[in-house]
Amino acid sequence: MGSQPALEILKERVAGQQALGLTRRLVSVGPSCGRFVSVRGRRCLLMASNDYLGLAAHPRLAQASLEAALACGSGSGASRLISGTLEAHVELEQAIARFKHTPAALFFPTGYMTNLGVVSTLAAEGDLIVSDRLNHASLIDACRLSHAEVKVYPHGDAAQAEKLLAQGPQGGIRLLVTDGVFSMDGDLAPVPELLEAAKRQNALLVIDDAHATGVWGKTGRGTLDHFGLEPTPEVVMAGTFSKALGGLGGFVAGAPEVIEALVHGARSLLYSTAPPPAQAAVALAGLELVDAEPWRREHLHALSALLRHRLAEAGLKVACEAGPIVPVLTGSAKAALELAEGLWRRGVFAPAVRPPTVPEGASRIRLTVTAAHEEQDIEKAAQALAEAAREAGL
Ligand SMILES: Cc1ncc(COP(=O)(O)O)c(C=O)c1O
Repeated sequence: MGSQPALEILKERVAGQQALGLTRRLVSVGPSCGRFVSVRGRRCLLMASNDYLGLAAHPRLAQASLEAALACGSGSGASRLISGTLEAHVELEQAIARFKHTPAALFFPTGYMTNLGVVSTLAAEGDLIVSDRLNHASLIDACRLSHAEVKVYPHGDAAQAEKLLAQGPQGGIRLLVTDGVFSMDGDLAPVPELLEAAKRQNALLVIDDAHATGVWGKTGRGTLDHFGLEPTPEVVMAGTFSKALGGLGGFVAGAPEVIEALVHGARSLLYSTAPPPAQAAVALAGLELVDAEPWRREHLHALSALLRHRLAEAGLKVACEAGPIVPVLTGSAKAALELAEGLWRRGVFAPAVRPPTVPEGASRIRLTVTAAHEEQDIEKAAQALAEAAREAGL
């Protein structure tokens, strides 16, 4: 008896997912940024991008990329610890630290790699990680990679998180880990309560501000800014340049001891080639535009409120109260697909989000608003959603 060929097994596994209504396809859209995209031959209003401030199409970012590539070349040539630390990285890291009001910062190739590096370096075997149930996949993967004990608390429950932290091993590190803004639900973590819990339990608090940086807070600094807090030494702030900041790359900002530990141990930083200078230059330009063009944040929040208002008028239930992530729950994956198809037929692109990205029974259309949108776009999206939902019997 020979063993079954691997490709056959793979085919069966994918077919199993497809039978559950979880077929996944890479849909090519074009052009890659702006308010409109072409999807399967139809021009659609884009309501699915995390380019919250509309910076991905900003000429200043394109210019920064071009100038850096012409001046410094297209690649960095080595990892950060070999010869890959370029002036552009150092300049950017100083700017990130200034922006986040922390003593030090570190730039990573992506937000995913940031989270892998941060969590798996700060906690190791013998340590404890306490993690929100709805944390992003990158944090979950990072917990697994760390070899630390991992305890999961109910979503947003700071009291429960503290109870779990209190059970941590003596002499080991306690790490409390949360998304600042939850990517699929759009709600904010109870950061002030989590910070107090972390302080009482001598823990570090890792906040992944991927969806908050540039968007939340009076000055767009993220969740701490939103709650009127300044970073303290126990806060480890992670984030990404790939969403509101219009580029690509991740960062961590925090105490010098944290940054030093990452330089010594973060494998996703040390064993990967440093980001090219153009990527760092784009990131820097994005940070500068958060301050230079605050109207983008104001416009974004005004449009987000308008969309919620219109959806409520249409009797549709939105899972979170504020901000540019507007999840419309459908329950089943099939209903989410039907709704997405109905939107597409009406010239609006917002794909269905299904398990395993969200828990079973929590499929949804995740609409996102950006500062590139205009009021008329929001009216169109709301009307299309109301019609498509009626058609789908929701
Ligand atoms: C909460 C959260 N953290 C981290 C990431 C990863 O960031 P990046 O896309 O820069 O790898 C994402 C996005 O995909 C995210 O939603």
